[in-house]
Amino acid sequence: MKRTGTLLAGMLAEGAFAGTSGSSPVPEVGGRLVFSMNRNWRFSRLAVPEARTKDFDDSRFERVVIPHTNTRLPWHSFDDKDYEFVSVYRRHFKLPLGTRGRRVFVDFEGVMTASTVWLNGIRLGEYKGGYTPFSFELTPYLDFDSDNVLAVEVDSTERADIPPFGHQIDYLTFGGIYREVALRIVPPTFIDNIFAKPKDVLTLYPRLEIDCFLEHLEPSRETLSLEVTLRDGDRVLATGSQRVPPAASASDPAPHTVRLEKLGPVVLWDLARPKLYSVYVRLLNGSRLVDEDSCTIGFREARFTENGFELNGKVVKLRGLDRHQTFPFAGQAMPGRVQRRDAQILRNNFKCNIVRTSHYPQSRHFLDACDELGLLVLEEIPGWQHIGDAAWKDLSVDNVRRMIRRDWNHPSIILWGVRINESRDDHDFYTRTNALAHQLDPTRQTGGIRNFEQSELLEDVFTINDFGFPLRAPNHPLYLNTEFVGHTYPTKTIDNTERLTEHTMRHARIHNQLASNPQYAGGLGWCAFDYNTHFDFGSGDRICYHGVADIFREPKPAAGFYKSQCDPDEEIVLEPAFRWARGDESIGFTKGVVCSNCDHLKFYVDNKLIAELDPDRSEFGNLRHPPFVLHLQPFRNAWGDLRIEGYIQGKQLIVKRYSGKGIDQQFSVLPDDTDLVADGADTTRVVLRVADEFGAIRSFANDAIQLDVEGPAEIIGDNPFALVGGTGAVWLRAKEQAGRVRLTASHPVLGKRQLDFEIAAAAPEAV
Ligand code: GAL
Repeated sequence: MKRTGTLLAGMLAEGAFAGTSGSSPVPEVGGRLVFSMNRNWRFSRLAVPEARTKDFDDSRFERVVIPHTNTRLPWHSFDDKDYEFVSVYRRHFKLPLGTRGRRVFVDFEGVMTASTVWLNGIRLGEYKGGYTPFSFELTPYLDFDSDNVLAVEVDSTERADIPPFGHQIDYLTFGGIYREVALRIVPPTFIDNIFAKPKDVLTLYPRLEIDCFLEHLEPSRETLSLEVTLRDGDRVLATGSQRVPPAASASDPAPHTVRLEKLGPVVLWDLARPKLYSVYVRLLNGSRLVDEDSCTIGFREARFTENGFELNGKVVKLRGLDRHQTFPFAGQAMPGRVQRRDAQILRNNFKCNIVRTSHYPQSRHFLDACDELGLLVLEEIPGWQHIGDAAWKDLSVDNVRRMIRRDWNHPSIILWGVRINESRDDHDFYTRTNALAHQLDPTRQTGGIRNFEQSELLEDVFTINDFGFPLRAPNHPLYLNTEFVGHTYPTKTIDNTERLTEHTMRHARIHNQLASNPQYAGGLGWCAFDYNTHFDFGSGDRICYHGVADIFREPKPAAGFYKSQCDPDEEIVLEPAFRWARGDESIGFTKGVVCSNCDHLKFYVDNKLIAELDPDRSEFGNLRHPPFVLHLQPFRNAWGDLRIEGYIQGKQLIVKRYSGKGIDQQFSVLPDDTDLVADGADTTRVVLRVADEFGAIRSFANDAIQLDVEGPAEIIGDNPFALVGGTGAVWLRAKEQAGRVRLTASHPVLGKRQLDFEIAAAAPEAV
């Protein structure tokens, strides 16, 4: 498993490596070297067998940067066969001098779906699985003095021998080397993994137990020691050490545990203040550094109990959404910045406190952001309804292992999902997945997402998708609803007001019921973002419009419901679930729902007070912030601009305006970021919107927006891009040169908007 190469970064900054063409030595220090290997890949859609050999001439292959999708796609209405092919990637590299005597691994974070790897023409093996990390040891086949070539044949077809495949699935997997790659050079004895377990965190004497997993090339004759430091930023809070007796065997799966006892007071990791610490582990031979590694942790106690979910001893009602990690145009091949943005949207915009990584382990960048933002996570293994044969099940059990060993230090993760989503019961199989999860990680409970009530409970928490309303009563003491609404009410941003409103109300009703009984630990709605799917699901254009936001991450009114449940101290929210139009309902002009955490609303049309409202406690009495339901008849005879004022304890704290004129007035271009890094992968979203004169989206605007880019970046997306629901987005991806990028977006009527981006230089890759 790959972790950051802090040591390398430091040495590069000091100029320890002038280059790597076999001429610059590895400095005489211990420790590992981790080189990112994301640039300078050569790619061909056609995997010719000759491309496996070392001397193959790949100069005509396309030069690509990882994360990479094997093909760019439209945002909807395409065939999954378009990306289901076997492609080949090649990467040349030279090792730094002095690498001889060390062990060298290539670490892949995620390749969809099966990867056969050759080094210098020698086949190293095939890894089956698109969502889990894998490594190959290169040491015996390396040329330490000149060029080495990795060749990776990537099979992106839906192979029935690999989870989640074997039957139908309701999402697309896309293809390519879509997560980062690194070269890891370690000493013969090295740290394979660290699991830092906070203990007694709610007492005056919190502790830390750090399991250090070591790998030995040969039984060591020397006595080594482990030194562990807990740090808050640069401040050392505690240090401890432990002798490592001479190893009995080459592979030593048992960890060596170092205990840090006197930590002093630590700040707990919680939702409002997700405080993080770091743990540094050094493997020493006397005072000589052999290897080192680090991880980020948080001190928190997370338990599902009969009272619901408790974080640090306090009940937190879980309110969240399921997330697919797929994006328009690029499939799953989006870099850290874009992954992190999804977590920000869920936490900061939709005010969720939990996300489920449906239905597979997701990007480490997304999980890092969850740690930093205080967004809880239910992470699960790859799969959807189908269970394959014995070999398939073995892969699935191995997925449990890889998921947990990759992610066990994330404080945000509170539950491992160790079943194939919505599969039938399989006592033996799920006994294995559960036992493994508990054995690897005794600190966390397990769940496993099913869709039938009678399902055998082998896990700690009964996690179930309940799409009905009213919901079933909890049939187990520890009970979490992991999906609702979804396919029972697909909703598009261009749907009419009644549907948008009802979609919002359905999410609200479920959360209202979940709030009625403490035994419901809470719930996660299906789902966060619309997603691409197969022909036998969705709305007929290869999209499931199940999101509370569209595929571009632009919110629908239902997202306003989630948002409105936050504390007003965090943000004052006022989000109408209706479109301000007089004739968009089939049965006249009747009902307007507003999601808000205010306690009173006033409605004005053309500055004339039309209605005042309190939250609808009759239908939503269990919610802290019930929606407001406005009866619109009084507006019938007086049409004009709408103003809604939100009050808390008599004080007006928010106002929103909606034009009654029906004219597109403003065109805006909203980038998530304007500073990128010239590593060829860094990407940001650019949202395009047409609004009324007050800034409210004009949801029937569908103009084609022409985009022009000057400078070292490219557009990932349609160009021209036709707005849908008055909005949409493309992504801007930095090339490998630094400089200024100017994006000009032209609306056919509302004119041009220009944006400038700074693309900062990136250090070249050292191998
Ligand atoms: C569930 C399934 C999800 C998605 C959803 C649509 O049954 O677990 O993956 O297909 O339905 O509502």
